[in-house]
Order: sequence, then structure tokens, then C-alpha cells
Amino acid sequence: MKTELALRERTLSLYRYPQRHNETLQAWDAGDEYLINHVEEMQLAPGKHIVILNDNFGALSCWFSHQYKITMMSDSFIAQQATRHNLQRNQCPDITFATTMDPIPADADLVLIQLPKSNRHLVWQLSQLRSTLSEEISVIAVNKAKEIHSSTLKLFEKHLGQTHTSLAWKKHRLVFSQANCDVKPLVSSNTRWLVDGENIELNNLPNVYSGESLDLGARFMLQHLPQDEHIKHALDLGCGNGVLSVKLGQLNPQLELTCVDESFMAVESARQNLQTNLGAAREFRCIANNCLDDINDLDVDLVVCNPPFHQQQAITDHIAWQMFCDAKQILTSGGQLLVIGNRHLGYDGKLARLFGKAKVKVVASNKKFVILQATK
Ligand SMILES: C[S@@+](CC[C@H](N)C(=O)[O-])C[C@H]1O[C@@H](n2cnc3c(N)ncnc32)[C@H](O)[C@@H]1O
Repeated sequence: MKTELALRERTLSLYRYPQRHNETLQAWDAGDEYLINHVEEMQLAPGKHIVILNDNFGALSCWFSHQYKITMMSDSFIAQQATRHNLQRNQCPDITFATTMDPIPADADLVLIQLPKSNRHLVWQLSQLRSTLSEEISVIAVNKAKEIHSSTLKLFEKHLGQTHTSLAWKKHRLVFSQANCDVKPLVSSNTRWLVDGENIELNNLPNVYSGESLDLGARFMLQHLPQDEHIKHALDLGCGNGVLSVKLGQLNPQLELTCVDESFMAVESARQNLQTNLGAAREFRCIANNCLDDINDLDVDLVVCNPPFHQQQAITDHIAWQMFCDAKQILTSGGQLLVIGNRHLGYDGKLARLFGKAKVKVVASNKKFVILQATK
């Protein structure tokens, strides 16, 4: 796996986060290289302010920090951590970090975007750019050519302004746009809906997992969450909109709740949903983190987890594995980890390796999912 980005007589050493010994995936792609080459040829004056949205692991932020003032805006805690580590590794100057809930800096001279996976997140970002930028500021986005559909370009035209694309280079394409469509009020892009058969209302910020409707795994898990007055503290690992925590809180009025997700918007959605559904007096905390990095001081009786099996475009089970290992660390003796997964993912083997085969049991299963309980 390549870790040296060598371009235009400069070399950067770049790693994904968390850094893994057996990593097979690079921390940048041809889209980053295409954008870097294009911007270098624009000969923007040194010191100008470049705002970079959704930089994956910090390749763009590291590259341009050399000559420009940089604001890196990302909804991903992992992307921000990767960028921090890569900046340090390459002795780059400091940059400013922001989430995509923050306002776009009004003094931006150029905006670069790695197109986000979710169109709702894209619409939110375009609409924020439209309300902040003047027409002469270039906005340049990049993605794999096959991911840039005519519908993507229509979103740019509708929410930002005039848009055209480049020729493809190494299967990637650039999208050039400027803020000149008719001004509309800022699009909130949040969705709000009631969960069928439950007394739960969920507000979902634009980049929250399964923000349009309830995840099928979560639906099954809702039917099997425990009601037990002996559980004092539960942690929802990869909480998304917090639906599992809300239900746990409703079933167990004594419960202290902690929600963790790597998406800042998920953490904020969970916070709002716990507050709305359980009331402001309830004790809970919502934390953005990569699994439970550096969290060692919690005593938790129950961890619930509907793990992700993608990191950005790549399918992976390393996050589920880290979640299970971290959960075991913070569980009290006799504490339980409740995991839901597609049957084919083989979480039973992983949990048996960690907790011992005798300590893992199937709580429920249907054609698609299995819910497993591991006891420490
Ligand atoms: C399958 S979704 C489950 C969401 C919610 N708990 C539910 O059941 O609908 C997995 C969640 O894990 C989060 N996630 C992914 N990688 C993570 C990581 N390294 N650390 C913490 N959360 C992560 C994702 O942002 C996503 O919200």
C-alpha cells in the first residue's frame, strides 16, 4: 500500500486513521491528485483562504496548508483525526477545523469539495455555500466519474449556480460551480419522522445514517432491548440518530445513557432526540469519537451496537472489531454487549474470540439479522 504522495516535486506521507499494520487502502485517491494539479495550475496567490469540505484523510488540507490559509470542514471525527495526524507527520502549518454544521467562512477565496456520499449532505453544503459566497468565488468538487450523475449536477445548478464538468482523468471528474442561482432560504435538509409502532420522534441532521427511514436492523433491535432495573449505565456505540438509546431510556427510567458516533451530525441528532423524547431532566451525554478511543473511565453495564460495515466507500469489518474490543474494555464484570448484524457478517465468531464461546448467545434472529449477546 502506497503511503507517499509524490506530486509536482513534493512528497507527503499520508495514512488513514486509525493507522493499521495490515492496511490495504491508501489515504488519498486520483481525485485528490486531479484537484491538486488543477488548483496548482490556477496559480492562486499565496496566503489566500481555501475552504476544503469533506477532505477524506487530509491529503488536500496537508497539500495546500503549505501556501494557503486552510479551513477543513468535515462531519467525520475520523477524517479530522486523520488530517491532524497527517499534518503533524508532514510538519505542515496549523489549519482551522470545523464541522459541516458550522457556517462557511465568509472570507473564502476558493472552495474545494470531495463530494459527500449523501445527497442530503451535499444539498445542505451547497445551500450553505450559496448563502455565503459571492459569485466570483470558484467552487470545485471532485469524485469518481461514475458517481457524478446528471442528478448530482442538477443539485449543483439548483442549490448553488452555474455548473460544468471537466474531462475525466484516471476515472475522476471535476465539477466547477459558482454561487449565482436565485437565492433561496437556507435548506435545512433535516428530516423528522415518527417511528412506526413506537412513541419516538426522530430528527435527523443531513449526514445521519438512515436519516430517511428507520434502519431495518435497528427496527429488529428495538423489539429486543432489555428492561432491567439493575442496568445503571448503557452506551450506544455508533448511535446514529440515537434511536436505540431513546428506546432504552423509555424502557428503563433509571438508566444513564452515553451515545458515541464518529459523525458530528449523528451525535447532535442523538442529543436532540434524547432530549425531545426523554425530557431535558434525563442524564445523558453524546460524544464524537472513533469507537471508544481514550475512553477508559466509564463503568457500563450494557453496550448496544449496530456496527457499520463501510468506511467511506470501502467495505470493512475492522470498525465492528474495534467496537467489540472497546466495548469489552468498558463493561463491568457481568456487563453485556448486545450486537445486531446481518447473518452473513459472522459477528458470532468475533464475539466468541473476545468473550469466550460460552459467553455468547443468540437473543433473536430472523431471515436477515441476528442479535447476539456477549457477557463479560
Ligand atoms: C449501522 S449505523 C447504526 C446507527 C444507529 N445505531 C441505528 O441503529 O440506526 C452505524 C453507525 O456507526 C457510526 N460509525 C462508523 N464508524 C464509526 C467509528 N469508527 N466510531 C464510532 N462510530 C462510527 C456511523 O456514523 C453510523 O451512525
